[in-house]
Amino acid sequence: MDTHETDIHRRRFLTAATAGLGSAGLAATAIPFVESMSPSEAAKAAGAAVEVDVSQVGPGMLLTVGWRGKPVWVVHRTGQMLDLLGKHDSQLVDPQSDEPQQPDYAKNATRSVKPQYLVAIGICTHLGCIPLYRPEVAAADLGPDLHGGFYCPCHGSKFDLAGRVVKNVPAPRNLEVTPHAYLSDTHLVIGQDGKPA
Ligand code: FES
Repeated sequence: MDTHETDIHRRRFLTAATAGLGSAGLAATAIPFVESMSPSEAAKAAGAAVEVDVSQVGPGMLLTVGWRGKPVWVVHRTGQMLDLLGKHDSQLVDPQSDEPQQPDYAKNATRSVKPQYLVAIGICTHLGCIPLYRPEVAAADLGPDLHGGFYCPCHGSKFDLAGRVVKNVPAPRNLEVTPHAYLSDTHLVIGQDGKPA
C-alpha cells in the first residue's frame, strides 16, 4: 500500500471509529456540581455513546451527562473519598456488587474502570427519583456511618460514593454503573465497553 492509499485507509478508519460518538462539553464552576451540554436529541434518542473530557471535572465534582434519555453521573472522587469507601461495608446491602448492576469490568472495590471516576445512572433504584449528591464526609442526611454519597429525597434511600445502597432503606439495589471506557487519560466514553487506555 503506497503513502496515498495509507492516508485514505487511515481517514476511513478514523471516520468509522468516531461515528456514533456524541461529545459533551461543560463549563467548570466553583461548586461541586456541573450540568453538561450533551449530544443532539436525535443522537441521544438513538443511544449514541457520549464522550466526556473528564479533565474538566475537578476533584470532588459531579458532572451530569444525558445518555439514552437518562442522567449519567461522572463523579471525580478524591483520594480521601476512595480511602473511606471501604470503611462502611457492614452498612451496605450489596458491598461486593454481586447484583448485576455494573459491567463485569466494573465489579471491583470502586465499581469503575478508573478508581477516581464513578460513572453511574443517577436514578434511584426504588421508584426512579434523582438522588442528591452529598460529597461531605459528615453529610447530615446520610447519617454518621456513610462517608459521603447520595441521598434520595423521595423516600430517604442512601447510597455511598460507589453508588452502593445502604441497608434499611426503600431502594433494593445499588445504582447502575453504565458501560464506559477511556479513549485516553482525559477522555471517557459513556455507553461503550472497554478497558482503560
Ligand atoms: S425513589 Fe428514591 S427512595 Fe424512593
